[in-house]
Amino acid sequence: MKIGIDKIGFYTPHLYVDMNNLAVARGVEPEKFTIGIGQDEMAIAPLTQDPVTLAANAALQILDENDREKIDFVMFGTESGIDHSKSAAIYVHELLGLSPHARSIEMKQACYGGTAAIQLAKGHIALNPESKVLVLASDIARYGLQTSGEVTQGAGAVAVLISAEPGVLELENISTFLTKDIMDFWRPTYSDVAFVDGKFSNEQYMAFFSEVWEEYKKKTDLTISDFEAICYHLPYTKMGLKALRTILDEGSEEVQKRLSENFQASTLYSRKVGNIYTASLYLSLISLLEEQDLEAGSRIGLFSYGSGAVGEFFSGILQPNYREFLSVDTHKDNFNSRTEVTVTEYESIFQKTLPIDGSTMELDTSQDPAPICLSGIKDHERQYINKHK
Ligand code: HMG
Repeated sequence: MKIGIDKIGFYTPHLYVDMNNLAVARGVEPEKFTIGIGQDEMAIAPLTQDPVTLAANAALQILDENDREKIDFVMFGTESGIDHSKSAAIYVHELLGLSPHARSIEMKQACYGGTAAIQLAKGHIALNPESKVLVLASDIARYGLQTSGEVTQGAGAVAVLISAEPGVLELENISTFLTKDIMDFWRPTYSDVAFVDGKFSNEQYMAFFSEVWEEYKKKTDLTISDFEAICYHLPYTKMGLKALRTILDEGSEEVQKRLSENFQASTLYSRKVGNIYTASLYLSLISLLEEQDLEAGSRIGLFSYGSGAVGEFFSGILQPNYREFLSVDTHKDNFNSRTEVTVTEYESIFQKTLPIDGSTMELDTSQDPAPICLSGIKDHERQYINKHK
């Protein structure tokens, strides 16, 4: 039985800042951000979008009635959790009107949370082939204004439906993974911005990639030429490029050209969104599939990295007619309907936060085009609305 990605969608909020303008405001050459880091635009979440609404808006695009009935497991990978106890998955479960006979839980291991959920979902489907699992990966990356990490922020979510006989990508069984206790990036419970040792995190990303890639080749007997494309977790697009470059000379000129071109296609969405932590790798996959015309049967490699740290290399095979299971137009509309904000406006939005002292706040959702929004906080409870209901 094949198990894998049946459908995949994403949502990014309607506001963004241009990285050229951010560079000028920060007194650096724009090429540092657009070439050195490899980002063109950065998505910004207004207060009316939180990790729950971003994930619910992403899932809304891909689910039909049949999926809603069959989903018996919702897993929400995030490192921007809104509650220490209650899982973000339960809010999405309610907002989407899923069957009450479903499990709903949250998963955490930095940017690796979404991948962990997908791998567990595979096991669940192996035991319950009739069911479907909804995996959500949703984050708002915050390092702080005028920090070196600022250029690598972003906001968005990916929703992945895992099933038997999937429409898009069969996930192959062999994968290689690695855990090491390191402090490259973390966010203590008292902080709403991440702590990071930037250079060390880059080095660890590369070291993890090298180790799981070498291990993967030994375990599978595959070589670089067996891959049509490799998608990377993209904290910023240059990071993935650096990792790809370390292995390119393992392939012929033709293979190098193919992997390089497909890598570029996999970065196009990320360049407009920024780092969305748990969802980043899957945004690369969506970008690749929607921006390139790959042949069914192609093998795609996936490298997942979550600081702290866990890394994994795994792979999938593109399914016949996979294009019919994508949401290309919805994603184009999402990008085309965004509004650019100035750096001053972005700074002001960044500094607006929800109350943390238990006070009530009502939010104006009329300016937010998303169907599902956060409308406020009352009695310590987040209030959500679905404008389509
Ligand atoms: P920085 O110190 O500001 O940047 O921080 P830099 O000085 O290293 O420059 C960046 C690149 O721009 C360099 O290229 C420069 O040469 C180039 P490189 O040598 O790296 O190839 N550059 C220029 N290029 C063209 N024209 C110019 C120019 N000037 C300079 N004029 C850093 C960069 C990424 C460290 C910082 O933004 C940061 O700390 N970000 C957050 C951490 C991060 O993203 N780490 C990535 C690996 S860890 C990971 O992926 C996990 C994570 O997603 C979290 C999780 O798991 O939850 C982060």
